[in-house]
Amino acid sequence: MSVAEHNLTSRITYTDLYRRWEQSNWSAMDLDFGADREGWASLSEIQRKSALWIYSMFFYGEDSVTDNLSPYIDAAPKEEQKYFLATQQVDEARHAIFFHRFFKEVVGAGDDVATTLAYTEPQLGWGYRKVFDRLDRMAGELRRDRSLPKFAQAITLYHLIVEASMAQPGQHFIEDYFVRSGTMPGFSAGMEHVSRDEQRHIGFGVKVLSEILPESDECKAAVDELLAEVLPWLSSVFIPPNWDREYTRCYGFELEDIAAWGFKAVEMKWKAIGYPMQEMPPGVAPVDFDAEPLERAASVIKMAQAGVIGEPGQDPDSSPEIQRLYFESVSRAVDPGVVNGQGPFTVQWRFADAAPWHLVVANGSTRAEPGEVADPDVTLEASWRDFIEVGKGAYPAPLALLRRRLRLRGGPRDLYRFARLFG
Ligand SMILES: [Fe+2]
Ligand SMILES: [Fe+2]
Repeated sequence: MSVAEHNLTSRITYTDLYRRWEQSNWSAMDLDFGADREGWASLSEIQRKSALWIYSMFFYGEDSVTDNLSPYIDAAPKEEQKYFLATQQVDEARHAIFFHRFFKEVVGAGDDVATTLAYTEPQLGWGYRKVFDRLDRMAGELRRDRSLPKFAQAITLYHLIVEASMAQPGQHFIEDYFVRSGTMPGFSAGMEHVSRDEQRHIGFGVKVLSEILPESDECKAAVDELLAEVLPWLSSVFIPPNWDREYTRCYGFELEDIAAWGFKAVEMKWKAIGYPMQEMPPGVAPVDFDAEPLERAASVIKMAQAGVIGEPGQDPDSSPEIQRLYFESVSRAVDPGVVNGQGPFTVQWRFADAAPWHLVVANGSTRAEPGEVADPDVTLEASWRDFIEVGKGAYPAPLALLRRRLRLRGGPRDLYRFARLFG
């Protein structure tokens, strides 16, 4: 962490955060949506569809974070943290009220909170549901286990994943459009308050983790475990219905722009916490940190669209470009330290319906290449689709091996190293 970033985190105090909450209180009930109804009617059909898609995620999300924050107040180790979290819970309820008013009064959807929420449900995609189901389960876990590692995991999921990685990038883009166009004044005013509140919440999460993580390997390990579980879902959150790119283009941006903005913002936060993503174990975030954020975003989106990452049950593409992207990320996910000093270790993949690839681990580095390698230490055979389903965690590897949908060959020692290499 640079000196400037560290100073920024240590300079923010819980008292500052609380003071900022008092100073930026606002009323969701006083917002005037009168002109927004006209603004809504003046949007094109695709703009309305897109806004419904994104704001459904916001409304459902605000409702969920309101419901799930109370165990955090109980588990927080410091009084100041408990006080701040109590203010945050009020904020989240106010955000939910704001979105409910927007849906009811501008979109004309639903009546009470429950019926309006039901209206948003069909808009929620696979990746989004996975993250929020996890947030529900996390609240239950934190009720039973108030330990510091569990608290660090819970703050990571809530403040760093849901708020910093999902809500903030989404807010950033659509808010810009409406502020520029001036067509939704009530909504724009509310969103400005919401994003200021969220910045404060994220600032709190960064502060808490910067106090806990650098001191504790146990807490770091808990956070690694959570990130490895959740990050694969995150790449699917902003996939528009039917991959229709007009959903973002109608507001003047590309899917890659949101993802790149999100990558940059999130990386900065982990740096400020004192646990940069580059220092996390391989496999937690197997992206190429040397590449520009836009380039990284493009690779992740290409792989999701090709069906090799993200939602299970797709027919994955096996073109040379997609195989290269996929195996490059596989090679970043392995820990070459496992075979250190024991000469090159080679893994051969053979697919019934796709080109073979292999992996060479030697001298502390790993590389994946197309084609066959002479005398592989371990050979794995499968169909491309089964192999991808196992990679997504949708088809448990032991079951796939038992059913012979996945066949592994190699000496016992090499198979053991293979298992350790891939966690
Ligand atoms: Fe919120
Ligand atoms: Fe929040």
